[in-house]
Amino acid sequence: MWWVLPPDSPIPRRRGILHILQFGPPSPFRTRDGAAPSGVTHHMTSAQVSPSIDAPGAARITPRCPYFGTCGGCRHQDLAYADQVALKQERLQRAFASFGITSPIGLTGCEDPWRYRNKAELTFAAGSERLLLGFHAAGSFTRVVDIDDCLLLPEPAAAVLREVRELAASTGLPAYRAKTHDGFFRYLLLRSNRSGRVLAALITSSGPAEVVERMADALMRRRPELAGIYWGRTDRLADVAMPESLTHLRGETHLEEQIGPFRVHIHPFTFVQANTVQADRLYRRLADRLGTGETAWDLYCGAGIIGLYLAGSFRRVFGIDSEPAHGVLARANAQRNGIENMQVETGGVDEVLMDRRRWFLDAAPEAIVVDPPRAGLQPGTVASILGARPRRIGYVSCNLSSLTRDLRLLSAGFPRYRIAAVDGFDMFPHTEHVETLVLLER
Ligand SMILES: C[S@@+](CC[C@H](N)C(=O)[O-])C[C@H]1O[C@@H](n2cnc3c(N)ncnc32)[C@H](O)[C@@H]1O
Repeated sequence: MWWVLPPDSPIPRRRGILHILQFGPPSPFRTRDGAAPSGVTHHMTSAQVSPSIDAPGAARITPRCPYFGTCGGCRHQDLAYADQVALKQERLQRAFASFGITSPIGLTGCEDPWRYRNKAELTFAAGSERLLLGFHAAGSFTRVVDIDDCLLLPEPAAAVLREVRELAASTGLPAYRAKTHDGFFRYLLLRSNRSGRVLAALITSSGPAEVVERMADALMRRRPELAGIYWGRTDRLADVAMPESLTHLRGETHLEEQIGPFRVHIHPFTFVQANTVQADRLYRRLADRLGTGETAWDLYCGAGIIGLYLAGSFRRVFGIDSEPAHGVLARANAQRNGIENMQVETGGVDEVLMDRRRWFLDAAPEAIVVDPPRAGLQPGTVASILGARPRRIGYVSCNLSSLTRDLRLLSAGFPRYRIAAVDGFDMFPHTEHVETLVLLER
């Protein structure tokens, strides 16, 4: 299902261009209840086309990537980068119009929108003649586009990808097939840092350890940029690159990355923002917007990076994340950076905050940061945030629809919060995603 924006749409500087956005990702061309706003025609097509198609005379550019249109990774490569930013800015503007925000919302673009992606999840598949390794095809959960390079990935990561595919093929073992639930090779996860180092996790079904050990040795020998390699096993039917068991095979266990003034360790399964340069900008803006104070909470703290940015301006910072490995990493990252005023709790935000006496009295916050997964906040979390009555809330989101839903709840409850600032960051050039930071105040 697709929404088509007519040529008289107010999209800046792109008159005559016909923008088509796939239904599903947050679209500016829907109202809160899902209906098309007036002036937007609802159009259905089953064609797998790129989301930005120009009308005659419009300045469509030639995508640089040979896989564009087939690979599901990028959807806006056929728009000049400035136009991609304008399109995303317009989406933000429309999303916040229903909150009465009419002043222009700033969206920070990238100086270099190529090879910024510090993480990749690649899938193996059986081709008719050879083993494939790449991204899911556009609009498909099963088809895989075999790639030799991705212009969003750093070159060392692409080199590791090619080498892993060649070595995997040379073992003679097949790729996993979801239909028949057989085969061996399933996923390759890559994390890259800005010094050109790569950490890899190969995920397979249960199978011969000696084959993977030999592959790991050959990889470490052939790819000097490879910092380390893990082997994960899963026999789950679900198409999720999350192993049931994980073994560190060779090299380093973590990748060191510089983000702003901090040196942090990441792991193949750690959540990190995909674009380190833009993440630093977002986190700095967040810390600026929240100001200074006694206590801040960093909810959904992951590896604790936001907490590091807040620790200089708040006397105490409390992080909460449900993933035990994130807790370990966040504490280690604080220690690594000489930060002593940050504490991290492991557990679901909802459950941890149930201890009202501790959190509302002993650790009462002046500021709360929330950076939840795509689904946004659970109702109980909204209630806990309102109950804690912080002066300011910083909401970081990659999903405009759950963000706007939660903002409505936060601005309709007691105490009543109002949106004091909105900032957009283009964390994912050439894709439809936009990262948003909202400051709420009471
Ligand atoms: C979008 S990431 C944010 C990570 C971190 N703030 C950052 O900037 O890197 C969301 C995080 O929420 C955690 N998470 C998911 N559900 C949770 C829950 N119910 N309670 C606490 N943490 C949760 C995940 O483990 C993940 O680290």
